Amino acid sequence: MTDRLILRRPDDWHVHLRDGDMLRAVASYTARQFARAIVMPNLAPPVTTAEAARAYRNRIIAAVDPALDFTPLMTCYLSDDIDPAEVERGFSGGVFTAAKLYPANATTNSAHGVTDIRNIDQVLSTMQRIGMPLLVHGEVTDPEIDIFDREAVFIERIMLPLVHRFPDLKIVFEHITTSDAAQFVADSGPNIAATITPHHLEFSRNAIFQGGIRPHYYCLPIAKRETHRLALRTAATSGSPKFFLGTDSAPHMQGAKENACGCAGLFNAPVALESYARTFEEEGALDQLEGFASVHGPTFYGLPVNEARIVLQRGEMDVPAAIDPDGACVVPFHAGETLHWRYAGLCA
Ligand code: NCD
Ligand code: ZN
Repeated sequence: MTDRLILRRPDDWHVHLRDGDMLRAVASYTARQFARAIVMPNLAPPVTTAEAARAYRNRIIAAVDPALDFTPLMTCYLSDDIDPAEVERGFSGGVFTAAKLYPANATTNSAHGVTDIRNIDQVLSTMQRIGMPLLVHGEVTDPEIDIFDREAVFIERIMLPLVHRFPDLKIVFEHITTSDAAQFVADSGPNIAATITPHHLEFSRNAIFQGGIRPHYYCLPIAKRETHRLALRTAATSGSPKFFLGTDSAPHMQGAKENACGCAGLFNAPVALESYARTFEEEGALDQLEGFASVHGPTFYGLPVNEARIVLQRGEMDVPAAIDPDGACVVPFHAGETLHWRYAGLCA
């Protein structure tokens, strides 16, 4: 039995680092495990200009100990009236790594999202031309559609026509939660990939209602039935370069989660690699973890892989019940539990 894994240092291809006190409270959890992270732009107001992204990047860098050697990769929030020239300038100037499509009102801080994908044809055509990845929150917002079907319906209504109209556009189907999405990505060309979160690999929708309503298991896209979770586990551990790590760590204050109208999002940054290691071990696929965590992502983005190595050690890791620096009380994924892999830092 392997007790110590040495991996190329991983990256997180989808994370919410927030701003202000919350940013200062959570950023180091991501920076200690990951060399780079694709930072989501759904602040209030959203990050829609290169100038705003540059300023946000500086706030992130200021919130993290430089010894952690962490690089935030910034994204542009697409809105109906986004300026294609601004997106192109931000990308060629090295500020934007990708752009994020939130269908309007699909999730947290997406009120300024895109109301109809046809409204952003110009920017999509620019992105296709310059090779800039489009990161997609793949859920329809039609209230007629059942919440558990919103991802599958998105593939039919939006994704397939999008890929047809922009066949060379690089697309990341973010935080996939269904066998439909895993299949769609596997069947598509090499310019289509997906991120998978640690939590969607670990629990199905039953967890949200286990013995009562459990707001800390509520995120978007919402966890689906068990067959979907199993399909995600197969995809993540398959060795296919189309699937890679994206935590979707999305912290909210404890009071905003434990609420009559609780926010969507799990804070998994403190236990991200531990959680993925658990899944890959359960699937008998620890040998596939490095590809998923450290190689497929940079390869898709056309970035170099990291040269540093990290250590994952078998051994108990007690997860705190809450994290409370600067008064930002946030309940992490696996709060109060003991995990059996531990991130043990950079390889000496
Ligand atoms: C995210 C958030 O809180 O910003 N929430 C979530 O449940 N994942 C938004 C998102 O990625 O959908
Ligand atoms: Zn997200």
